[in-house]
Amino acid sequence: MTSGTTEPKELMLEVKNLTVEYQSDLETVHAVNGISFSLAKGGTIGLVGETGAGKTTTALALMRLLPERTGKIRQGDILLNGTSVLKSSDKELMLLRGETIAMIFQDPMTSLNPVLTIGDQISESILLHNSQGRTPEQIQGRVDEVLNMVGIPPARKREYPHQFSGGMRQRVVIAIAMACEPDLLIADEPTTALDVTIQAQVLMMIRKLRDRLGTSLVMITHDLGIVAQTCDNVAVMYAGQLVEVGSAKDIFNRENSHHPYTNGLFGSIPKLNERVKRLKPIPGLMPDPTALPEGCYFSPRCAESANMCLKARPEVYVKGEHKIKCHKMRNVDGYVKEEAEREEAERG
Ligand SMILES: Nc1ncnc2c1ncn2[C@@H]1O[C@H](COP(=O)(O)OP(=O)(O)O)[C@@H](O)[C@H]1O
Ligand code: SF4
Ligand SMILES: [Mg+2]
Repeated sequence: MTSGTTEPKELMLEVKNLTVEYQSDLETVHAVNGISFSLAKGGTIGLVGETGAGKTTTALALMRLLPERTGKIRQGDILLNGTSVLKSSDKELMLLRGETIAMIFQDPMTSLNPVLTIGDQISESILLHNSQGRTPEQIQGRVDEVLNMVGIPPARKREYPHQFSGGMRQRVVIAIAMACEPDLLIADEPTTALDVTIQAQVLMMIRKLRDRLGTSLVMITHDLGIVAQTCDNVAVMYAGQLVEVGSAKDIFNRENSHHPYTNGLFGSIPKLNERVKRLKPIPGLMPDPTALPEGCYFSPRCAESANMCLKARPEVYVKGEHKIKCHKMRNVDGYVKEEAEREEAERG
């Protein structure tokens, strides 16, 4: 599925039929099952879905950081600025990471080195991509600049990660990610480990940096509130597939047709002005990724499931930029099968 691609816009990211498995001697985990989406330069896409949907696996594949022994990209391609990440050499990847694409992980402690000062960790990242040939003084100047950018007094650069609070540590991680001004930032649940007030500050900072530097952003979260505040496009992920993709307007317009899973997610967030004490979970569990069901992967939990849903994989139906992978869409006015739409476009 494609989003944020009204034609003349240049694409920052294109993911084509990406399929990722984790292979062990005992089993094959089908973590990402043929996803396609794209992101225009300067655009923001929110990748949403429950735990286990395949969001982090997608992010790791984009960075080519899947576990070496078990993580396998079985099909598809990933283009960054038109260059294939999958065909890049190790040397090219080193350059891509940092300068073109950077990632913020969920837990700041796992991405910071406990025995290096935060200043050394930021300067290390700048040195790795020192194409501008900065002198040591200039690098220190840049460290101070990025610390200021994330609201940390530069004097604290001689401190170690354990001397910072959780929210401040995540700011350090953001500073490292932004130090080389990447074109594309992937933020994988960047605020999940933080408490609510700090969450808001960190999100605000990511938005400000994005606006100031024109960075494209993939925001991974299970929180639709964060998507609403941050993203112009949304991709809803379930059992390794994208079940619905569209502009934020398409997705948040309750009048529109939606995938039953998206409707479930919407049911799980409190509406504004409503005093909801508890979130409404979607009944049931995601299918076992080592033994996916034959038809629609959501069918075991779907209240609208019909006979054909148990047998046939649903196709993607499209209306403008709004795409939904569900059999019920064949009867909805204005939506056509993606295949048919593509053939029509090719015929001109
Ligand atoms: N290193 C791994 N080895 C085997 N299975 C994995 C590994 N990492 C993730 N998985 C499995 O892949 C699926 C997708 O996981 P993940 O990408 O982490 O989802 P999300 O980020 O949406 O929670 C899950 O079933 C998860 O258990
Ligand atoms: S294809 Fe069928 S089971 Fe799957 S989401 Fe649509 S209605 Fe539900
Ligand atoms: Mg994850």
